[in-house]
Amino acid sequence: MTTSMLSIVELYREKGHLHYDGEGVSQLAHAWQCGQLAKNQKASPKLQLAAWLHDIGHLLSKKEGTPTSYGHDDHHERLGGNYLAQVFSQEVAQPVLMHVLAKRYLITTNPEYHKSLSPDSIRSLILQGGEMTVEECEKFLSHSFASDAVLLRRWDELAKNSELVMPNKDEVITELSNIVEICL
Ligand SMILES: [Fe+2]
Ligand SMILES: [Fe+2]
Repeated sequence: MTTSMLSIVELYREKGHLHYDGEGVSQLAHAWQCGQLAKNQKASPKLQLAAWLHDIGHLLSKKEGTPTSYGHDDHHERLGGNYLAQVFSQEVAQPVLMHVLAKRYLITTNPEYHKSLSPDSIRSLILQGGEMTVEECEKFLSHSFASDAVLLRRWDELAKNSELVMPNKDEVITELSNIVEICL
């Protein structure tokens, strides 16, 4: 195991129990559910890993709880995406960096999408810039990883199911370690 791999896995082992404020699931449950959705749709291992780790920025952030609840955008997508870019290829880092842009793109272009957003996602949307302009949509779509970011975002909205039973923590951490190893 490399140091970077250890630190990522340990971050989820140590801080994964933290509640995702406003969502009804822990950070680890959200990561695991997102990873399962990607796996079930036969996404590439790198996109599966991006799904698992897309909110790692919240764990890296020193801010308590969910900063949007007190009107602060922690830019977790940048924090997490830039961190992952030091360890993994762009196929992992870019969808993470772009998952907030993907939300803004979807809310702008798909009126139905609004209904799938959780209260926290709606609250953070305003802080993150709200709807995109036409130019911003075009710029987003021109990016090589736009479609991966949109896929990830769709899983993100579905991965907040408080009723879903997760395997025990050790099993989940082992599954995360395995996918990390494949993608290094
Ligand atoms: Fe996020
Ligand atoms: Fe998320």
